[in-house]
Amino acid sequence: MTLYDLVAPAIEGRYEPRYRIAGIRAADPLGADATVAAVPAMNRDADIPALTVALRRLVPDHDRTASLSVVDALAAVRDLGLLLGSLKRHGAEPLAAVPEALPVLQELARRTDMVPRDTVHHYTTWNPLGDRQRMYTGEQMEGHLQNAVRMVFPALVAALDTCDELAGLEPYDPRFADALDRTGQHVQAMVDSIDFTVAQVSPEFFARGLRPYFEEIDVAGRDYLGPAAAQVPLWLVDLTLWQSDRSSPEYDAFLDESVLYSLPSWRAFHAAHRGSTSAVSKLSAAISWESTPRLPPVLAASAVSAARVLRILKTFRARHIGIARKAYSDELRLYDAGSGGAPIALLRSVLDLTRDNETLVRHANVRMHAPVPVSAPPRSASRPAPAPLREKRLTP
Ligand code: HEM
Repeated sequence: MTLYDLVAPAIEGRYEPRYRIAGIRAADPLGADATVAAVPAMNRDADIPALTVALRRLVPDHDRTASLSVVDALAAVRDLGLLLGSLKRHGAEPLAAVPEALPVLQELARRTDMVPRDTVHHYTTWNPLGDRQRMYTGEQMEGHLQNAVRMVFPALVAALDTCDELAGLEPYDPRFADALDRTGQHVQAMVDSIDFTVAQVSPEFFARGLRPYFEEIDVAGRDYLGPAAAQVPLWLVDLTLWQSDRSSPEYDAFLDESVLYSLPSWRAFHAAHRGSTSAVSKLSAAISWESTPRLPPVLAASAVSAARVLRILKTFRARHIGIARKAYSDELRLYDAGSGGAPIALLRSVLDLTRDNETLVRHANVRMHAPVPVSAPPRSASRPAPAPLREKRLTP
């Protein structure tokens, strides 16, 4: 039993078929178990004809496709997806090789309200464990990387709730710090996940053994990215915390693309909060307008909690960029861009933005707590303190 299995029941009870993880994992609507078990051997042999026959065999007819429930449709995309990525890895454009799969993927996309191919959720969270686990290579390290992503899914679903709560609160409300603290507890899963990845997955295995399976495929004239870990929706947390109004054009562009690969309710969350005032901006404004040397305790607590969550995000990103740099080093890399379509430079810029926001909140709090120097001129009680924070817009 994994950590994931201990926390998953909390989200399974919700009315959202995409959270019915045990059901999706158990589902085999295309009768694909035996076929997908043979995929690692086909990939080892770069056997394009066998992969093509396997994909053709799995493609359901129109009536069968139309009768699938959302749970079954998600499982079907998962299984077709394994063959799509495998064919592409060996140089075949999958829908050119098996054109009859195109209308099926389009219909499954419509039924599931997701992109017309598999995503990181199909490849990890919705992927069965044990004998039925779907893998490109069958290597233990691939299983570890899948588990690393599996373990963050319930935490990010929970963070979505706490971030939603946070978005409706002001920093003078004690619930603001409380929502941040709970968000921080959830986001810690990202740090655990990247530590697990660094310990269990070598950059060389990722770069040479796995990355080629995550290439984009052509679906009716449009490229769709493979099931990359970059699609893990950490942006849900960034969005409310700082990204909605303190981002960079590069990160915005990356998110606009990544959001397409997420669940419908998460896309709705993005649309609802995009461009709104972030928690950091609310805090900055509130702190800037305080004229007393000490912040009101509630506001100080909000700042401490915000800095704590940002520090956790920063820790994840600092460790993550370490393994990403190695995997995309000149010696190892086969591709310039990550499987999520962005270069390492993006990771650097997102890490810098996270760090800038953390520093901003931490320093603001410390500055307000610092004793007023004896020689300092008295500050007018009616005028706000000089406020570099209030107007400051962070740049990457
Ligand atoms: C060998 C392991 C890994 C490597 C080499 C790697 C590499 C990368 C690269 C190059 C990017 C830039 C965007 C892109 O891919 O196009 C990226 C983004 C990202 N990756 Fe990874 N990654 C790894 C594991 C993970 C894991 C285990 C997680 C989470 C559980 C994760 C979460 C993310 C997220 C959330 C982003 C978006 C940028 C951000 O929020 O900072 N990655 N990764």
